[in-house]
Amino acid sequence: MYFNEGSPYRNLIVGANTKVPLKNGSYSKYINFDNAATTPPFRSVLSDINAFSPWYSSIHRGMGFKSKFSSNFYDYSRYEVLNFVNADLEKDTVIYLKNATEAINKLSNRLSIKDSDNIILSTSMEHHSNDLPWRKYKVDYIELDKYGRLSLTNLKEKLNFYKDKVRLVTITGASNVTGYKNKIHEIASLVHSYKSKLLVDGAQLIPHCPFNMKPKNTKEHIDYLVFSSHKMYAPFGIGVLIGPKKTFKEGSPDYVGGGTVDLVTKDSVIWNDPPQKDEAGTPNIMGVVALVSAIKTLKQVGMINIANYEKKLTDYTLEKLKKLPDIKLYCHTNKTEDKVSIIPFNIEGIHHAQVAKELSDDYAIALRNGCFCAQPYIQNLLKISKDDIYEYKDTFIKRPGMVRISFGMYNDINEIDFLIESLKKIIKNKTN
Ligand code: ALA
Repeated sequence: MYFNEGSPYRNLIVGANTKVPLKNGSYSKYINFDNAATTPPFRSVLSDINAFSPWYSSIHRGMGFKSKFSSNFYDYSRYEVLNFVNADLEKDTVIYLKNATEAINKLSNRLSIKDSDNIILSTSMEHHSNDLPWRKYKVDYIELDKYGRLSLTNLKEKLNFYKDKVRLVTITGASNVTGYKNKIHEIASLVHSYKSKLLVDGAQLIPHCPFNMKPKNTKEHIDYLVFSSHKMYAPFGIGVLIGPKKTFKEGSPDYVGGGTVDLVTKDSVIWNDPPQKDEAGTPNIMGVVALVSAIKTLKQVGMINIANYEKKLTDYTLEKLKKLPDIKLYCHTNKTEDKVSIIPFNIEGIHHAQVAKELSDDYAIALRNGCFCAQPYIQNLLKISKDDIYEYKDTFIKRPGMVRISFGMYNDINEIDFLIESLKKIIKNKTN
C-alpha cells in the first residue's frame, strides 16, 4: 500500500493544504494532528450538502413536495446508519442528537435507575462524557493495567462481585488519550453472561476501523452505541445513539415539545414512538445529510484500508519518537498493540502547553494538549494523586497534562517527518 508517496486519501479532504500564519509573519502549510477532536470535512460531504440544499425543507412538518422529500431522506438515513455498524434493522433505533456527549446523557436519563443497589460499571479510561452522566447513579470503575489498558481481570472480578446488580457496563471503544482499543466483543460476551448490557462509546473508534454491533442472538452483540459525525469528516453537528427501540419506548423524553408527541390534551400526553419521541423540535436534516454522505465515502474507501493506513502512520511515528531524547510516551509502543491512531507524549522539562504552542506558532502543526476531557485517566497515567491535583486547582495553566498527536486518513509521512524535525528543534532549544 501507498505510504512513502503520501496519503491516497488526501484529495478527499477540504483544506488539507491550507496555509496559516506563523509567529514570524510567514505562512506555512497547516498540519492537522488533532483529528481526535474534530476532523476536517470530506469534499463529498460539502458537495452533497450543496446538492441537497435546493430540496432542503422542514422535517415531518409539511405537505409540500420539498418537505416530503426532506422527511423521506431523514427517515431513510437511519437505515444507512444502522447498516454501517451492522445494527439490528428491525429491533434497533437511531436517535439523532447534537454529539456523542448528548447521546450518552440521553441514555443515562432514560435508564432512570431507581434501585439504589443497582450499579453502573464504567472504566478508569473514559472521556468525561462517558463518566459524568453516570455519576447520578452508583458507579464503579474498572481498573487499568500498568500501561493504562483496561484490565479484563478486574472487569470479571467486578461482575462477579456485583452479580445481577450491574445495570450497564459502559466502555470506550477506543481511548481518546492513548488510542487503546478495548476488546468490546469479548467484553460484551462477558457482560451478557451476567445478564447486563453494554454501551460502547464509539466516538474515537467508528471513524478509524470497521465496526460490527453483531446480531442480537449472539453473546458478542453490542447493546448500545454512540458516535459523532464531527469526528468522521461530517460537520453540521450530529450525534448518534443506537439501541433497542424497547429501551426508548419506555419512560419519558428528557426534552419535550414539538415532534415528541402523538396526542396531547390539556391534561394528558401520549408520546410518539421512538425515535421521534426523543428528537424534540425540528430535526437537523443538514447534519444527517452530511453524516450519510460521510458514511458513503468511508465505505467506498473501506474501513479496513483506513485502519491499515493509519496504523502505518502510528507505527512510523512511534518508532521516530522513541529515538528522540527526552520524549516520554504514555501508550504502549509495541506494534502488536491494538490501537487507533493516537499518541500521547511529553517532552521532559517543557510544559505540555508550551510544546503545543511552539508547534503551532513556529511550525503550523496543530495538536491538542492538556487532559483531553479525561482528567481521571490522565491523573492515572501521570501517577498524580487526588491531593496533588487539587494543588493545581487555581493554576489551570500549570496543570499537568500531555501533548496528543491524533491522525486522520489524510495525514502523511511528510507531515510526520516535519513534526519530528520540529520536535528535535524544540528539544535542542530547551537544552541550549
Ligand atoms: N473528545 C474530543 C477530544 O478528545 C473532543 O479531543
